[in-house]
Amino acid sequence: MERTFTMVKPDGVRKSLAGEIIKRYESAGLKLIALKLVRLSQEKAEELYSIHKGKPFYNELVDFIISGPVVPMVLEGENAVNRVRDIMGATNPKEAAPGTIRGDFAEEISENIVHGADSVESANREIPVFFSEIELVD
Ligand code: RTP
Ligand code: MG
Repeated sequence: MERTFTMVKPDGVRKSLAGEIIKRYESAGLKLIALKLVRLSQEKAEELYSIHKGKPFYNELVDFIISGPVVPMVLEGENAVNRVRDIMGATNPKEAAPGTIRGDFAEEISENIVHGADSVESANREIPVFFSEIELVD
């Protein structure tokens, strides 16, 4: 069993898509291990996106992710990292297939509705940014 980290971004919450997104993950057989609604601090946002520091879109990304509440969650299942990435669709919504979250609901790469860890290592780094050990339900 694999665990991954995924999060409804502020645009997804603003568009009332949190429930729809959770439903897609649950319908795919992924199990909820942790879930909450929070607003990130500047510090936490910079920690989450530390791998993007220095890139041209970094400042915009951090400003965007603190612009409203987000819904972070931990999901568990076989091949969870890649399955969540498949359900999310391509980073650029213009390239995301219909039926994926980004293909169905996003228009711009800067506001693409969801985040998902890109590897088990990334998930293990991202989960503690949002959840303490006791918040992970087995
Ligand atoms: P995410 O981390 O949000 O799940 O998305 P991702 O792995 O598909 O994409 P990543 O390369 O990690 O980029 C993180 C987020 O930065 C924004 N981005 N903008 N303007 C640009 O060229 C650009 N490239 C990336 C996107 O919002 C992306 O989700
Ligand atoms: Mg990424």
